[in-house]
Amino acid sequence: MIGLKDKYKDYFKIGAAVNSRSVKTHEKLLKTHFNCITCENESKPSNILKKENEYYFDEVDRILKFAKDNDMAMRGHTFVWHNQTPRWLFKDATRESLLQTLRDYITTVGKRYEKDFYCWDVVNEAIEDKSDLFLRKSPWLDIIGEDFMDQAFRIAKEILPETDLYYNDYNESLLPKRDKIYKAIKDMLDRGVPIDGIGFQCHWNIASPTMDEFKRAIEKYAELGLKIQVTEMDVSLFAFLDETKLDKPGVELLKKQVAIYKEAFKVFREYKDIVDCVTLWGVADDETWLDNFPVRNRKNWPLLFDENHEPKESFYAIMDF
Ligand code: GLA
Repeated sequence: MIGLKDKYKDYFKIGAAVNSRSVKTHEKLLKTHFNCITCENESKPSNILKKENEYYFDEVDRILKFAKDNDMAMRGHTFVWHNQTPRWLFKDATRESLLQTLRDYITTVGKRYEKDFYCWDVVNEAIEDKSDLFLRKSPWLDIIGEDFMDQAFRIAKEILPETDLYYNDYNESLLPKRDKIYKAIKDMLDRGVPIDGIGFQCHWNIASPTMDEFKRAIEKYAELGLKIQVTEMDVSLFAFLDETKLDKPGVELLKKQVAIYKEAFKVFREYKDIVDCVTLWGVADDETWLDNFPVRNRKNWPLLFDENHEPKESFYAIMDF
């Protein structure tokens, strides 16, 4: 069977989020279909700084070895985030000391992988979903101030001049967030902040966003003249507040999922000049974070390969062009 990555070789890279187990358990699918890797958790501050002031790289190194052995690119994920970041980093910090901490962190982690990670999510999820606030509340905002994103990108570019630097967020297609992310990035560009691309997480479900909403989003972001990556795509079979549990995926639900993958990849292909990589958040339906989010212990089937690692209809739908 021709691999996804080969079918898309003239379009964009095809990525998957992995962990140090799944590079073994899902090895065959990864080697056949993917040419880019993101660490699901291993390259986040919480995992690299497991202990205070001690860096831990073993797991990232193991995943990197797998990527290199198989000629796969790697994305770095992530430097500045309100989540999965040790609280002690912020304790008694001042603006100046936290900027220095960030500089030290990017120097140690970014430089270590400078030749191997071709891009990094410099800031993840800094824009508030609701309309009352612009930036999400976070220790980075509280301590550094409203220019924390500018600072993060400037510092990262100084240290990693050759690396593509991304702003990454979810609900990228929905209003009001779509306009807010656009504005935040446009304003940064106007101020000369060195940002190379926008990451659309694309944690979608069968009800949202509509493909019209998504098309409007990509059209609008494309105006910024930056690269675009799809960084964390999956399509849940359940609308966000739906708590239904199923033993197996319903036929009608799967049909909706197929239609979404088909249409979305068609749009990604139309934008191939700016879309650099499309990453799925996982490899196959036997292992997905959506089995525990937003409903704990509720099986979900959001990816392109089933629980037995066989291609789903969604897979064939995006191979059919
Ligand atoms: C966010 C983060 C990812 C991951 C997913 C859920 O989108 O950016 O790193 O934690 O949530 O697994």
